[in-house]
Amino acid sequence: MKDNDDTRGYLISFEGSEGSGKTTQISQMASHFESAGYDVVVTREPGGTPIGEEIRRILMHATESVNMFPETELLLFAASRAQLVREVIQPALDEGKIVLCDRFMDSTTVYQGVARKIQSGPVHLINTFAVGEVVPDVTVVIDIPAEVGFERIRHRVNDLPDRMEAENIEFYQKVRNGYLMLAKAMPERFVVVDGELSEKEVTSQIWKELRKRVV
Ligand code: TMP
Repeated sequence: MKDNDDTRGYLISFEGSEGSGKTTQISQMASHFESAGYDVVVTREPGGTPIGEEIRRILMHATESVNMFPETELLLFAASRAQLVREVIQPALDEGKIVLCDRFMDSTTVYQGVARKIQSGPVHLINTFAVGEVVPDVTVVIDIPAEVGFERIRHRVNDLPDRMEAENIEFYQKVRNGYLMLAKAMPERFVVVDGELSEKEVTSQIWKELRKRVV
């Protein structure tokens, strides 16, 4: 249990590389929390607001974005997050809701900081400016080997890889290492779950951890 005002809700972020199964697990957790009587808000980054979804389109799907510089990318992810925090997350937390967020500030630390190699100083400063006081209470990392994520993306039948997914295996490796590094540095906030287990097993492990911390 958190030691702050117990009328405030909980922010739980889900992280992991592409193909880790985050989205499926988030919807499982939403059902579990709802069955336990909680009000749940599910959202995602980039996106989650009309402005954020427009930024998502530019970041991931716009043809002009092949020319995007890492610094521009960093600022656009941060802009989407700044809007989401103020428009959706903070109001939901103020109403005591549980917010499940598909990616949050740790994605920026890992993708733009570790994988794109932008200096940690500016990444931290911009991240902090975007979120203000809103930091996740718990962050679930669904960990899979880089090759597994890479293969899962390539075998998707219904979707072409977006701009980020089109990166090479070394990029995926850096992303994985980045998350494991963060989890090691902040064990009180992070929970790492083995994403190679069966979908059911992953769900049950995440729920076990979240129940300990929230329910
Ligand atoms: P997803 O919503 O399918 O997980 O895709 C989001 C993509 O954007 C994914 O490749 C990770 C990337 N990303 C960043 O590079 N930085 C960020 O801050 C966020 C939120 C996502």
